[in-house]
Amino acid sequence: MRRVALPEIGTFEVWRDEARALLGAGVRPEDLLWQRGQGAEDLFATDLPMVAGGPVTVPRGFVELARLVVCHSDPERFARLYALLWSLRDDRRLLEDRGDPRVAKLTRMAKDVSRDRHKMTAFVRFRELEVPGANRRRFAAWFEPTHHIVELTAPFFVKRFGDMDWAIFTPDLSAHFEGGALRFAPGAPRPELPQDATEDLWRTYFRNIFNPARLKPKAMQAEMPKKYWHNMPETQLIPELIATAEARARQMAEAAPTLAPVRAGKISARLRVPTAEVTEEVGDLHAALSACRRCALWQDATQPVPGEGPPDAPLMIVGEQPGDREDLEGRPFVGPAGQLFDSIAQRAGLDRRTAYVTNAVKHFKFTPRGKRRLHQAPNSGEIQHCRSWLDLERSRVKPKLILALGATAVESLTGDRRALMARRGGLERTEDGTPVLVTLHPSYLLRVPAAERAAAEALFEADLRLAVRELAALAEPPDP
Ligand code: URA
Repeated sequence: MRRVALPEIGTFEVWRDEARALLGAGVRPEDLLWQRGQGAEDLFATDLPMVAGGPVTVPRGFVELARLVVCHSDPERFARLYALLWSLRDDRRLLEDRGDPRVAKLTRMAKDVSRDRHKMTAFVRFRELEVPGANRRRFAAWFEPTHHIVELTAPFFVKRFGDMDWAIFTPDLSAHFEGGALRFAPGAPRPELPQDATEDLWRTYFRNIFNPARLKPKAMQAEMPKKYWHNMPETQLIPELIATAEARARQMAEAAPTLAPVRAGKISARLRVPTAEVTEEVGDLHAALSACRRCALWQDATQPVPGEGPPDAPLMIVGEQPGDREDLEGRPFVGPAGQLFDSIAQRAGLDRRTAYVTNAVKHFKFTPRGKRRLHQAPNSGEIQHCRSWLDLERSRVKPKLILALGATAVESLTGDRRALMARRGGLERTEDGTPVLVTLHPSYLLRVPAAERAAAEALFEADLRLAVRELAALAEPPDP
């Protein structure tokens, strides 16, 4: 057994270089013991001199995945990654196999790390330090991450707080930004930090962004777990804000802005272009949908948005609901999420024009904010009411495979509301047995932080490739 010692600072880079060299030299995963920092010694391990190996190339998606997984607190993370790397030598497409338990486990670990990074960017609270004579203001914060995310997340704070000096102390590592240079140092116990005036600012900010009409204490605690509260000045306000939420929500409803339907109508008429894909049949559907009053969403939307595409398409793609742009144009997936979907689909060899593209809910649901209309997810009742329209489209098109984009589509098609992440890349079925391939909604990709976007897109692309393969398999005649 050989021991590979990894430093606490620069862990990923050293792991990557070591793994490349070991792989090139053909060292098997079971012969390695990976350790970060001052980990417990293994009596049977020997220190490993760097081995020279042949050139090794790995898929880009793996590097992005590894960058996150290396930050996980699971002591087995390095070994798991190396084992996958080892298997990728023989099967370079393994990473696309969502059903493979090793890939699934590492993907979950990467998600844990991403979530922890979000928490850090949202919940770090700086306190100002008095430094007489200093020409830059100086701040410090204490934070307790679940994973080893300080190095990966510090650049976010450099971008956001580049004009001041600051330090973030955590039990694992600390990050110091001084005079424009970022450096890392070992972890530290919680320092004594002064209360300061920025805390009032935070409280004012929190009071302003708190929306009493959307108060969900359980969701709020899931998003902002109590373990972070003691470092966050604004959390002292939470009990009071909850107690007064109902009255404030009533006031807000009374003062809500109203939309200008005339303006929306004009924009819609300008944008609506006759398209080859919109068939007669879909035209009928548009008229029928316009008369639908099963739920209240028709009232504020500009128009319903029916599906479009070949009436006998073998693939049906189902999204959530039209967005702002779709509501005005009357066509599905023409806005930012649709454009992103199209470009990834093209890379995956999926031609959207050959599919029937539609949504689980046919009217745009939103909250007006000044001149903007902010997307709101449809609730189960609305999904249920609109399901008969989707069923009608399914019974007309008779797709061989349905690609469900996001939780709403999956709920509408399968009736199953379990969490999506564990189901993505899996094949499920509608009540009448049509196969449904589950994946995320492309708008999710628009929201992930820039550093994780390439990895998230690669996974999404892999799901679309899977759809193409499934479709080809379904088109093959059954064995005689
Ligand atoms: N998001 C969807 O789910 N559907 C659309 O048509 C556009 C955005």
